[in-house]
Amino acid sequence: MCGIFGYVGSSEKDNPVTICIEGLKNLEYRGYDSAGIAGLINGKILAHKTVGRIQALEDCVSKENLKLQVAIAHTRWATHGKPTKINAHPHFDSEKKIALVHNGIIENFKKIKDRLVKEGVNFESDTDTEVIVHLLSHYYESDMLEALQRTLEDLEGSLAIAIVHKDYPNQIFAAARENPLAIGFHKGTCEAYLSSDPNALRNAELDILYLHNNEIAVIKPDEIDIFNIEGKKQVKETEKLELEEGSATKDGYEHFMLKEIFQQPATIQKAMENRISDAFGTAHFEDLTFSTHELQSVNRILILACGTSLHAGYVAASLLENIARIPTEVEIASEFRYANPIISENTLVIAISQSGETADTIAAVREVKAKGAKIIGVCNVKHSTLTREADSTLFLKAGPEISVCSTKAFTSQLTLLSLFTLFMARLRHLSKEDGQDFVKELRKLPMLVSDILEQSSRIEELGKKYSGFEHFFFLGRRYMYPTSLEAALKLKEISYVNATGYPAGELKHGPIALINENLATIAMCGNKQTFQKLLSNIEEVKARNGPILCFANEEHTQLEEIADDVFYLPEVMDTLACIPYSIAAQLFSYYIAKERGTDIDKPRNLAKSVTVE
Ligand code: M6R
Repeated sequence: MCGIFGYVGSSEKDNPVTICIEGLKNLEYRGYDSAGIAGLINGKILAHKTVGRIQALEDCVSKENLKLQVAIAHTRWATHGKPTKINAHPHFDSEKKIALVHNGIIENFKKIKDRLVKEGVNFESDTDTEVIVHLLSHYYESDMLEALQRTLEDLEGSLAIAIVHKDYPNQIFAAARENPLAIGFHKGTCEAYLSSDPNALRNAELDILYLHNNEIAVIKPDEIDIFNIEGKKQVKETEKLELEEGSATKDGYEHFMLKEIFQQPATIQKAMENRISDAFGTAHFEDLTFSTHELQSVNRILILACGTSLHAGYVAASLLENIARIPTEVEIASEFRYANPIISENTLVIAISQSGETADTIAAVREVKAKGAKIIGVCNVKHSTLTREADSTLFLKAGPEISVCSTKAFTSQLTLLSLFTLFMARLRHLSKEDGQDFVKELRKLPMLVSDILEQSSRIEELGKKYSGFEHFFFLGRRYMYPTSLEAALKLKEISYVNATGYPAGELKHGPIALINENLATIAMCGNKQTFQKLLSNIEEVKARNGPILCFANEEHTQLEEIADDVFYLPEVMDTLACIPYSIAAQLFSYYIAKERGTDIDKPRNLAKSVTVE
């Protein structure tokens, strides 16, 4: 999981170093434990690497006044080898003629490394990446294209690589298999860029092409040549970038996470905009390319996702079964990709991914695609890999989500998937009147969320009070069960405390053994259908001295007799309660993390987008 950026131009005034550092900043969401840059100047390879954020690399190159004619750069999320300077990319061959950066995992690196070590090659790092550069050097006689072909043939696993070679002063070589790599070029200005994510190029003037399946690119300022692994020249289609709206500044908030939590009345509204028909009590999607007949024929839905998007998938599955009456399964993409799934003719696949770059979700999508499934992507990022793989993409329109901890994307996913459920239900049995009732409830959401946000100081108090606990259970039933999973994920991700989401009824089947005065239970009481049952579970916790905080409907004041604390939320129907309850839980996690002094927007060990398995 890492970000690659490269630049080659023909004008003296453009500094590839500055351009690459700016590019890396836009890719920092892919990893931020170390960074590096290398390139050529006057026939020499120069490089710098630093541990930590891109800022450290920027400080270092400006102190050293680094100048390069062509550059490749990298921001890392460690897979093999600790986040040290030696393990940071670029990596070099023994003679320092070649510099290489890599995103992905080389699965047979150990075997290749053993072979090369036997031949006398000295390895400096603990990374899997270093084998690529030594292999290249091993195969290189006088033709880089040939050396790259032979190298790719030996490598197993996923990769996107960028290379500079001393013998090729004004060019970059690149290759990709499974991992994304975009090339942006401008014939008029004679410059070419390379990036893991086309959006990081931030330039609507460029022609963009994507490398696939072992394709190799030879990138010069005025010419881009693409070859397949057999060395045959390829003709590629290009596209222009549609730039994303939304600012990448905190707008006065202390953290991006807080800003994004507070954006939710607007982002939920945006997810609904131009997608509701009040008159017919249904939804419509201008970006949906399937015919009504195809959608009416769907008799099974399969949802694929990871992390927070997976939790949105769990909620959506209950909605689709209960409201649209379509059998729906949710699969964890990382497990599903190896499952040899059964995909029947009328199965619709919905892949949910904020970034559209999650490697496991993309691999699962490719697997079902190979089996002939039709795929709808639910995604926030235009031009992302998922949007290219899916048959149709429904966009969240939430604007850039910068904080690693996903907040507004989750509630936009829920809003969008509620609308999609309504649409599918209306294509089937749901009456216009029932559809209109659902629409009315949906339309109330932005206001309802604003009410909760106005009470943020009360949640802050609760966050402070509970910030000393190292162990948490989040309990819920029905729609509040995935809400609990999501709430627990938020807390552990940014506070580094042990938090588990659990179906409340299951507590007595084992986990209740953990309850004592040192484990806080947070009960998500937003489901009216199961409220009485949850109440009994809360009593069971109380009987064992467990501290309890309830997030509950205003009418459920009896909770005050049992719980240590209650935070009241406005009345909302069960099927939509996940949205306001999750937002209250997001704030709760945020204030606990703040109290504990963690790095909220960039928590340790994480990356915004998980682009390796
Ligand atoms: O971009 P995606 O929605 O595919 O990302 C999936 C997960 O990596 C992501 O939701 C992750 O769990 C978040 N950091 C949670 O806040």
